[in-house]
Amino acid sequence: MATVRARELYNDIAFDYSTIKTNKFKRWVEETTFLDAIVGGGCGDGVRGKSVLDLGCGSGHFCRLIKENSGYGAGNVYGVDVCDAMVEEAKRIEKSAPRGISYYRVDLLGSGGDGAGDTVSDLRVDVCAAAYLLPYASSVEELRKFCSFAARALGSGGRFVSVTTILNKPSFEKAAAAADAPGGVLASDAWGFSIVWEMDSVRDGMLADVTLFGSCSRDVATRVTFPNYFWSKDAITGALLDSGFDRVEWLVPLVAADAPGDVANEFGRINRTPALDAVGFFVATKK
Ligand SMILES: C[S@@+](CC[C@H](N)C(=O)[O-])C[C@H]1O[C@@H](n2cnc3c(N)ncnc32)[C@H](O)[C@@H]1O
Repeated sequence: MATVRARELYNDIAFDYSTIKTNKFKRWVEETTFLDAIVGGGCGDGVRGKSVLDLGCGSGHFCRLIKENSGYGAGNVYGVDVCDAMVEEAKRIEKSAPRGISYYRVDLLGSGGDGAGDTVSDLRVDVCAAAYLLPYASSVEELRKFCSFAARALGSGGRFVSVTTILNKPSFEKAAAAADAPGGVLASDAWGFSIVWEMDSVRDGMLADVTLFGSCSRDVATRVTFPNYFWSKDAITGALLDSGFDRVEWLVPLVAADAPGDVANEFGRINRTPALDAVGFFVATKK
């Protein structure tokens, strides 16, 4: 199967991806868990005044949340993405309501970009963030390249916080065994997403199509589908340790305190929803 070209892919779906932030999982679980990890959890010292680099920032959704939310109030915030349409949209939003966020178009796996590659490589920050960047690594080498970029940007004590899709082998293998054709499906109507693959064996680096439903209904138009390379927690942890991180902690997902009752109830059953095993949050630290 051809390599996923993230730049072209996200040029095509940039708009749809921005609107899908209404997805129940994204809104109430992903955002809460990811931002909590960025500020260092309840006992952390936050990111107030600290510099943050968002790798694969898309149209800057998390850059803005990190920068402007009074609880976060970061210092310098930088966003980097390979996709022209995403970076243009991020810059357009920044121009219309300046927050002091700098965006660059850079291919974190190569040399392509708007000439900002050297500027971005030279950045040194307190926290690196990456929401769904790692699923664009088509090989272990590319996984290490993404992780090494983060490791280089961080000094001693720096943290790399990420949310990513996960190849949870038992769940995937169970779904494959239940399918009547090669491949399998993992889906959660309650959380509004499905994962569909056609490979006959479940293995690290396999491609699967992820579909997100904006309002958690499969019938509505607000949906977006994109391919992801799925990596297990072991493969990701290995790549992080090989790239200069000393410790990797996988986090338990959190639900927002102000989530509606049905979301909170569904979250209570989260451990029994195999599709949710397919998303993971980690914090990797350097001594
Ligand atoms: C699923 S989107 C997530 C966007 C954003 N982090 C968010 O959560 O809203 C993944 C992003 O990673 C970017 N990306 C993929 N490969 C990349 C690479 N090699 N260099 C820089 N960005 C990349 C894509 O262009 C896309 O915007």
